[in-house]
Amino acid sequence: MEKVLDLFSLKGKVIVATGATGYLCRHFLEAAAQAGGDIAALDMPGTENKLEELTQHLTEVYQIRAKWYEVNVTDEAHMMQVRDSVAADFGHVDGLIACAGINHHGSIEEYSFEDFNSVMTTNVTGTFLSDKLYGELMVKQGGGSIINMGSASGLVVSRYPRLMTAYSACKGGIHHLTHSVAAEWAGAGVRCNCLAPGYMEHGMTHIRGHVRRSDDPKYQRELMESVPMERFGVPKDLTGAVIYLLSDASGYTTGLDFKIDGGLTLW
Ligand SMILES: NC(=O)c1ccc[n+]([C@@H]2O[C@H](COP(=O)([O-])OP(=O)(O)OC[C@H]3O[C@@H](n4cnc5c(N)ncnc54)[C@H](O)[C@@H]3O)[C@@H](O)[C@H]2O)c1
Repeated sequence: MEKVLDLFSLKGKVIVATGATGYLCRHFLEAAAQAGGDIAALDMPGTENKLEELTQHLTEVYQIRAKWYEVNVTDEAHMMQVRDSVAADFGHVDGLIACAGINHHGSIEEYSFEDFNSVMTTNVTGTFLSDKLYGELMVKQGGGSIINMGSASGLVVSRYPRLMTAYSACKGGIHHLTHSVAAEWAGAGVRCNCLAPGYMEHGMTHIRGHVRRSDDPKYQRELMESVPMERFGVPKDLTGAVIYLLSDASGYTTGLDFKIDGGLTLW
C-alpha cells in the first residue's frame, strides 16, 4: 500500500493563488510550500511589498520556487497576461486557490447599487475568471485542482449583527459556481471544490465600517451564540483541508462544499 502521508505531498506541483497576501491565503501558501509545492502568488496592484516579503519567506524557509504577480482579479486582459506569464515561468499549473475577496456590511437599505456590484464583481466574477483562466490550462494538461472560497454565509444567512446581503449572495453564487465547474470539467480530470469557513478570528469576520466594532466584546459574544463550538476558527483549522484538496489525497473529490465552521451551519 502507498504511504498515506505521501498522498498529501505537493512536491512537483505548482500552486497559484489570488489574494495571496491576505490573512487566510498567506497561511494556505505557507502550508502548500511546506508540503513541497511551488508557488505563484497573485494580489492587487499596490501589494508589491507584501508579495515580495511573502515569496522571499517561502523560498528561504521551504526551498521551493515562489514568484509574485500584481493583478486585479476583475481585469480580464491583465489576468490573461499574468496567466500566460505564470505558465511561461513555471511550465504547468496544478492547483489554484481563488482567495481574493472583499466584504461590505450594512442593511439592505444602506447598500448602494455600487456597493452590491463591487462585492459581486470582485468575488463572483473574479472567482469565475480565475477558475476559467487556470482551469483551461489544467484541462489542456489533463488535470488539476481548484479551490474556491465560499463561506458559511453562502450556505445560511448570517444573523444580526452581521448584515451583509451582497456577501451572502456572492458566496452562495461561488458555491454553485463550484458545483458547475466541477461537473463540467470532471471528465477532464480537473476537480473543483469550495471551502466554507465559519467565523474566523481575523480577516473578513471583522467589520470594517459602520455597523459594529470588531473588538466590541458584546459583538463577539453575539457571534459566538450561533457557533456550537463556541470559538472562532483559526487558520490551522483550514490548512489541512487546503492541502487535502490540492493533493492527490482528494483525487476522487469534486464539487464539495467543505464546511469548517465549528458547527455554525447546523442550526
Ligand atoms: N476571514 C473570514 O472570516 C472568512 C470566512 C469565510 C470566508 N472567507 C473568505 O476567504 C477569503 C480570504 O479572506 P480573508 O479573511 O483572508 O480576507 P483578507 O481581506 O485578509 O484577504 C483578501 C485578499 O484579497 C485581495 N483582493 C481584494 N480584492 C481584490 C481584487 N479585486 N483583485 C485581486 N486581489 C484582491 C486583497 O488584496 C487581500 O489580499 C475571501 O474570499 C473571504 O470571503 C473569509
